[in-house]
Amino acid sequence: MEEQNVKLFTREELQCRNSREDCILVIHNGVYDVTKFLEEHPGGLEVLMELAGRDATEPFEDVSHSSDARALMKKYKIGELVEADRTQSKAAFSPQWSNDQPQEQGNSWSSWAIPLLLGVAATVLYRYLFL
Ligand code: HEM
Repeated sequence: MEEQNVKLFTREELQCRNSREDCILVIHNGVYDVTKFLEEHPGGLEVLMELAGRDATEPFEDVSHSSDARALMKKYKIGELVEADRTQSKAAFSPQWSNDQPQEQGNSWSSWAIPLLLGVAATVLYRYLFL
């Protein structure tokens, strides 16, 4: 039920909200009014103003903000993007290295085959030299 009360915005209507008096950011399809936060942002006012009215998801993630910062964001959320303007960024949430894991499993034979071969080689060498 509450979901229906979320205010929806289009990217187009947000574009002009890029001044110090009215500054919004789009992060992960959420719309944030950071006008009152500009002066308080530990990373400075300039970085936020540069992205004002636009999608700031990538720069926001590039800085790898703390969980405290992510919790703070909620305070400034005013709504979300309309369905048509959303980016399908679900995949961006899952760490990229997770794709590597199945490959590692495929190579797992090397974790026992190499020590085994070394063991055989050492035994043969030992017999040659000392027996
Ligand atoms: C609502 C949105 C945002 C909130 C609530 C927020 C909050 C914070 C907080 C609390 C910090 C202190 C460090 C930490 O706890 O991670 C920080 C640092 C910083 N933020 Fe943001 N931030 C927001 C958006 C952005 C965006 C869009 C950028 C764009 C590049 C940005 C760039 C930075 C930078 C450069 C730092 C400084 C990192 C440092 O000096 O170590 N922030 N932010």
